[in-house]
Amino acid sequence: MLKVTIDGITVEVEPGTTILNAARQIGGDIVPPAMCYYSKLEGSGGKCRTCLVKVSKGSEKDPRPMPKLVASCRTGVMDGMEVQNITSEEVLTARKGVVEMLLINHPLDCPICDQAGECHLQDLSYEHGLQETRYEFERRTFDKIDIGDKIQLHMTRCILCYRCVMVADQLTPERVHGVLGRGDAAEIGTYIEKAVDNDFSGNMIDVCPVGALTDKTFRFKNRVWFTKPVDAHRDCPTCSGKVALWYKGEEVIRVTGRKDEFGEVEEFICNECRFDKKNTSDWIIEGPRKISHKSVISANHYDSLHPTPVIPKNPALLEANKEQFERTTKI
Ligand code: SF4
Ligand code: FES
Repeated sequence: MLKVTIDGITVEVEPGTTILNAARQIGGDIVPPAMCYYSKLEGSGGKCRTCLVKVSKGSEKDPRPMPKLVASCRTGVMDGMEVQNITSEEVLTARKGVVEMLLINHPLDCPICDQAGECHLQDLSYEHGLQETRYEFERRTFDKIDIGDKIQLHMTRCILCYRCVMVADQLTPERVHGVLGRGDAAEIGTYIEKAVDNDFSGNMIDVCPVGALTDKTFRFKNRVWFTKPVDAHRDCPTCSGKVALWYKGEEVIRVTGRKDEFGEVEEFICNECRFDKKNTSDWIIEGPRKISHKSVISANHYDSLHPTPVIPKNPALLEANKEQFERTTKI
């Protein structure tokens, strides 16, 4: 096992582990943000630079620091390595620069974007972004391309993380889209206007960190923080059938994979579960989904029908309100 210390916390990891995954084993605020790395997609990472960290000690054998900040999703851990993430001013300044760069061409249309509330770039810009822009040139915009009846592509929002390309490569039988062009002409497109409709293609929507790929069956139906997510499953012959159902009142308005604490789906789901099973009777409901209190989706979201009773600390107050207190705890 190799010992690595990240922001003063030491952890032992297997050889071959990246700094990002070592930080994920520790968890909490010291985990660098990742906009392109996706643990379930082979070869992902190394594109967005949001996960930059400072290696202040290379290893026990060679303690020299690394000369530049490194992408933690692509840098392997060495024994005795020391890494700084949120404890380094240099890293935080660089991350601000990366966010500014990503936002150069990304429109600030969160009020009308379906991804708002679960967009990693939105969270990143709240945490590291500047309030104003220094960019004075015309932003790039794109003509709309139709990529099928289930998925909407909004190329102006794409940050070219390549995750959707990897989903198509690794999960679907044949990839019909990719990054066309290079440099600032690079864009996501289908080869000769083909439709993306392979059986697992809907997972492109879940892995897209921004609102560039959205679910056409859900578009403009509701803001995500007004919906009620529940975990549900069905006996599916194609995938695990384990999903999150997003309710508006009694109606299932969206079906997605279940995302973990790092915003990655736990298991990829098939298009039939995602697009064709929108009745409660299609599913076995497991219960309300646990939502991080940091997420706007947690507003008005209860995972229990029993309110937590407020117990007065003052015994006189407790005695005076005994009847009401007992009534509350019995609900
Ligand atoms: S469309 Fe989304 S998933 Fe695909 S490259 Fe662009 S940002 Fe990444
Ligand atoms: S997550 Fe490491 S470069 Fe994008």
